[in-house]
Amino acid sequence: MTTITLVQGDITRQSADAIVNAANSSLLGGGGVDGAIHRRGGPAILEDCRKLRASQYGRGLPTGRAVATTAGELNARWVIHTVGPVWSDTEDRSELLTSCYRESLLTADELGARTVAFPAISTGVYRWPIDDGARIAVETIRAADTAVEEVTFVLFDQQAYEAFDRALR
Ligand code: APR
Repeated sequence: MTTITLVQGDITRQSADAIVNAANSSLLGGGGVDGAIHRRGGPAILEDCRKLRASQYGRGLPTGRAVATTAGELNARWVIHTVGPVWSDTEDRSELLTSCYRESLLTADELGARTVAFPAISTGVYRWPIDDGARIAVETIRAADTAVEEVTFVLFDQQAYEAFDRALR
C-alpha cells in the first residue's frame, strides 16, 4: 500500500528516488515546474532529454506518457518527465491526466524507485482546475498496483495544498 504525503513547497528542494516533472512534449524545458527542475537540476537533465529526442522520442513525448532521465544536481536519482493535458472546456481529457500519474508510477517501478515526488500536473500553465486535478491525482495513486512505497505531492501554494488535503479525505 502506497502512503501519500502532502508538502507545501518547491519540488526542486524535495528528496526522493524520483522527482516528476510537469514537462511539455518537446522535453526541452519551459516555465513552472519544468523551468525550476532544469534550473536547479542543471544541464545534465537537458542533455538526457536531447538524447531522448534524438532517439525514441523524435517527435516528442506524447501527452500522458512518461520517461526518465538523470536528476542532475537534484536530491533524487531520476527525474520522470510526463506531459499533462491542457485543460479543455469542451473535451474531457481526464484519462490523459490519469495516464500521467499511472505511467509515472510504471516508470518508477521499472527504475526501482521507492519514493516519488509529484507536482500537481497540468494545474498551472495547462489550466486544469486544481480540485479536479487533485482528485485525479489522489484517485490514480490510490488505485495503482505499484511497488512505490511513498508518494509525496509537493504543492507550490496553499490553495493547491488545501485542494489535495480535501481530495485525501
Ligand atoms: N514546485 C512545485 N510545484 C510547482 C513549482 C515548483 N517549483 N512551480 C510551479 N508549481 C506548480 C504550479 O503552481 C501548478 O500547481 O505546479 C503545478 C503545475 O504547473 P506548471 O509547472 O505550469 O505545469 P503544467 O500546468 O503541467 O504546464 C506544463 O508549463 O512550464 C511549462 O514546459 C511546461 O509547457 C509545459 C507546461
